[in-house]
Amino acid sequence: YLLGVGSHFFKGKKILITAGPTFEPLDPVRFIGNHSSGKMGYALARRAAALGAQVTLVSGPTNLELTHPNIVVKKVTTAQQMLQETLLYYDEMDIAIASAAVADYRPETVSEEKIKKSEENLTISLVKNPDILKTWGERKKKQFLVGFALETTEEMHNAKVKLEKKNLDLIVLNSLKDSGAGFQHDTNKVTLITRTAVAEFSLKSKSEVAADIFDFIESHYIP
Ligand code: CTP
Ligand code: CA
Repeated sequence: YLLGVGSHFFKGKKILITAGPTFEPLDPVRFIGNHSSGKMGYALARRAAALGAQVTLVSGPTNLELTHPNIVVKKVTTAQQMLQETLLYYDEMDIAIASAAVADYRPETVSEEKIKKSEENLTISLVKNPDILKTWGERKKKQFLVGFALETTEEMHNAKVKLEKKNLDLIVLNSLKDSGAGFQHDTNKVTLITRTAVAEFSLKSKSEVAADIFDFIESHYIP
C-alpha cells in the first residue's frame, strides 16, 4: 500500500514507534504476556519509512521482520527495557507513536530457578510497570505524541481522558465493536481524536489505517 506518498512532509522527520507486546518473566521459562501481534506498529513503521521518515521501531517479541534502509529495529522483551530503549532516542524525535501493548503489571520477583509445582494454589504478586507513553508526555518538548486506546466502555470519554493525562496530541481509539478489529487481526477500525478534531474511519487493513494516521498527523501537526 504505497499510494499517496507524494507529500514531502515526513521526509527526514525522526519517528519513534513502539510495537508488539511485552513479556514479563516469572522464572527462566515462563512469562506474563498478551496476544498483541505487533502488526499495527510494524505497518506504521513501514508507512513512515515509505514517506521518507527516519524510523526507530522499538519492538516487543513478535514474529514480524522488517528490513528497510529508513528503519532501525530495536528488539526488547519487558516494559522496563522498552522504556529504557525508547529514552535513548526520544529527545531527538519529531514524532513518537506508542502502539505497543505494554503489560500494565509485572511479577514482583523473578525466580532464578524454574518454579516447582507444589501447593494447589499459587499466588503471584504483581507490581505496576512504568507507563512509557506517560513518561514521554512528561518530557515532551517538540514531539508530536500519538497514543492508542482500547476501551470497552465509554470509549470516547476514556480516550479523551488518556489524551489529556498522557499529554498527547493524538489518540487512536481502537473500536472493538467490529469483529475483525484489533489484536491478531490484519484489519482495524479506528477513531482519531485530538483536542479539537474527531475523525471516524471504517474497517480497513492495518496498512491503510497506518496511511490514514499519517495523513491525519500531517493535517493536524503542531510542532
Ligand atoms: N502504554 C505505555 N506504557 C504502559 C501502558 C500503556 O506506553 N505501561 C501506552 C500504550 O502503548 C497506548 C496507551 O499507552 O498507546 C494506552 O494504553 P492502554 O492500555 O489503553 O491504557 P493504560 O494507560 O494502560 O490504561 P488501562 O489499561 O487501565 O486502560
Ligand atoms: Ca493498559
